[in-house]
Amino acid sequence: MVQVYTLPRDPAESARLDEQHQVWKATLDYPELLHPRISLHNYIGLDISAAQYPLVYPSNTSFDVLNILEPVPAKYEGYFDVIHVRLLVLGLVGEQWHTTARILLAMLKPGGFLQWEEADFAHPIYHSGSDDDTTCSALETLTNHALAVSQPTGWLLDESTLLPGFLGLAGFVEVEERVVGSDAVPEWRERFMRIGIKAFEGILRISKFDEGARVRLVKEAEKAVDEGAWGETKFHVVIGRKKA
Ligand SMILES: C[S@@+](CC[C@H](N)C(=O)[O-])C[C@H]1O[C@@H](n2cnc3c(N)ncnc32)[C@H](O)[C@@H]1O
Repeated sequence: MVQVYTLPRDPAESARLDEQHQVWKATLDYPELLHPRISLHNYIGLDISAAQYPLVYPSNTSFDVLNILEPVPAKYEGYFDVIHVRLLVLGLVGEQWHTTARILLAMLKPGGFLQWEEADFAHPIYHSGSDDDTTCSALETLTNHALAVSQPTGWLLDESTLLPGFLGLAGFVEVEERVVGSDAVPEWRERFMRIGIKAFEGILRISKFDEGARVRLVKEAEKAVDEGAWGETKFHVVIGRKKA
């Protein structure tokens, strides 16, 4: 079983994730993060690693370590009213998407909701923001290199488009999907681009891509954003329920 995660685990990456959270929240515009059909009062944060858990958090929140690809620990079988999952795209390959959907179903109470959010990083649509198309091409080149190192090893980065099918096959009911462009809120466009560049840089760094070439690609992509270029990445939000 592949258990490699394709982004770094350092303070810079934690800061990038925090910022990405703000963009994601503003873009989906769900005040409580969850779909308006779902409400919740106590939270358990789960991840395969505790390395990036916050040091300070609200009193109705706790954290635990869990590998979503392992059998469900007895304490979490049928335990949750709601499970919110976001951006496992760089942690799962192939059949693991189906395994994860089945495990999430097993962790829910009957009638419980899953809200799973992923982005289609493989098909961004770039806009130059000027008459000069070379700005766009710097972003496309960085993206293509990140895809070229990821896809042959199984990280296709567009599995978000298959999420409703993963939920349906696992046995979820009342499956609904919403797709929102990352550029939906204009004032977040530039920040999302810079977050995305850092993510692609992280993918190239972890894959041992030539350092000089990586630095050059990132510099050119950042210059493109300085010059007004931006991209649209589709955020897919899928909710589903466990049969009551
Ligand atoms: C891009 S981060 C997203 C973090 C957070 N959900 C968010 O949206 O800000 C992906 C997270 O998935 C976690 N992850 C990867 N593989 C996992 C697995 N098999 N089980 C649980 N968590 C996993 C990584 O450790 C990482 O923290």
